[in-house]
Amino acid sequence: MITNNILSFAKSILCEVLEPGCIAVDATAGNGYDTVYLSRQAGVEGRVFAFDIQEEAIEQTRQRLNEECMPENWTLFHSGHENMLSLIPEEFHGKVNIVMFNLGFLPGSDKSIVTRPETTLKALADSLEILATGAMICIAIYAGHPGGAEEDAAVREYCTALDYHYVRVIQSEMLNKPGYPIRLLFLTKL
Ligand SMILES: C[S@@+](CC[C@H](N)C(=O)[O-])C[C@H]1O[C@@H](n2cnc3c(N)ncnc32)[C@H](O)[C@@H]1O
Repeated sequence: MITNNILSFAKSILCEVLEPGCIAVDATAGNGYDTVYLSRQAGVEGRVFAFDIQEEAIEQTRQRLNEECMPENWTLFHSGHENMLSLIPEEFHGKVNIVMFNLGFLPGSDKSIVTRPETTLKALADSLEILATGAMICIAIYAGHPGGAEEDAAVREYCTALDYHYVRVIQSEMLNKPGYPIRLLFLTKL
């Protein structure tokens, strides 16, 4: 397990639910690294749905998927993750194995375009609806950019209030990281 990078740590947990043939959602496609990871894990029998509000991010993701010769198992939505319930075909509702959120801004791009608490919370509620039993949501939260601390607080408040008999929430954090915190939340639907 690689623990010098929090996203590598997240992936070491997620590989438990990411089996060939799985259904995965990348709620924040960004530069496409996570979508490529999900597409590779899902394989030819699986499906990946990825969202981003920025056309640039969707194009980056498409390019990366093609360059890395990923199986044709992906669908990209140039739309907010708050629309996932209407955009992911109904046949997949209740069957999704993993939803990944990597919050914040698109690295190397306009840092004022960030994920926002209202839409993130709506997307989290919708993710819980489309997840299969035993499936997971992984959220990487960065509190360092403008609005980041508020989103961090809102997401953790939302997750803390979730019914323990319906969802289990585990938080991990690099405690000795200088500067702003980076946190991971893992939600498992029971
Ligand atoms: C930290 S980046 C994601 C990094 C990405 N997962 C990767 O592997 O490169 C956050 C992304 O969230 C996107 N975003 C912001 N609001 C969004 C929303 N409502 N729905 C979907 N994506 C959103 C931003 O445009 C940005 O590209």
